[in-house]
Amino acid sequence: MADVLSEFAVMLFLSVYYIIPAYVANGLAVVTGGGQPIDLGRNFIDGKRIFGDGKTIRGFIGGVICGFLAGVIQLFVAPYLNGFIQQLITVYAFNPVISVQAQLIIYTPPLRAFLLSLGGLTGDLVGSFIKRRLNLERGKPAPFIDQLDFICFAILFGYFITPINIEYLIILIVLTPIIHLLANIAAYYLKLKNVPW
Ligand code: CTP
Ligand code: MG
Repeated sequence: MADVLSEFAVMLFLSVYYIIPAYVANGLAVVTGGGQPIDLGRNFIDGKRIFGDGKTIRGFIGGVICGFLAGVIQLFVAPYLNGFIQQLITVYAFNPVISVQAQLIIYTPPLRAFLLSLGGLTGDLVGSFIKRRLNLERGKPAPFIDQLDFICFAILFGYFITPINIEYLIILIVLTPIIHLLANIAAYYLKLKNVPW
């Protein structure tokens, strides 16, 4: 039982570690954002904004750069982290499949960090595009879209470099809305965001 639990804990950790560049890109777009909106203030054919004022060029580019840098930092800690995780896997005799996945996940290729960040912020744009079509103003909450838009595209983009196993995908889809909600509540209290979602 303890083994199953610790195996799951390692998988949980690896899932989050994998997606960190996308989380960082999305989170820091809030910090670097501002100025010219990506849609340059223009409307779509339905007469509503394409993306809205919440999607800015600075936010997008700054977010992608920060996410990429997060991946580079991961690469620096990778040898130590991998040593530790591989040791856990051996000591607790986890399923050997984890060992291979762990190695693939922990050594973040810089291109993957870039694609996870780019995918994350592209998904964020797609989410806003859908929200505007649904007549939701900038900043209005859209359950599921707000929490999952970025993760779906991040995973899709990242998959080209590292096709992670289905278990990790499921963990990410379930865990992300929770993390997203907590992070937004924190950002709200830090006065980085006007609304806690
Ligand atoms: N942000 C940005 N550029 C981006 C993404 C985010 O400038 N490409 C900044 C904006 O200041 C935005 C904040 O991060 O208001 C929070 O992002 P998000 O919640 O995704 O945007 P909302 O303002 O809620 O807009 P929307 O309704 O379109 O989701
Ligand atoms: Mg929002």
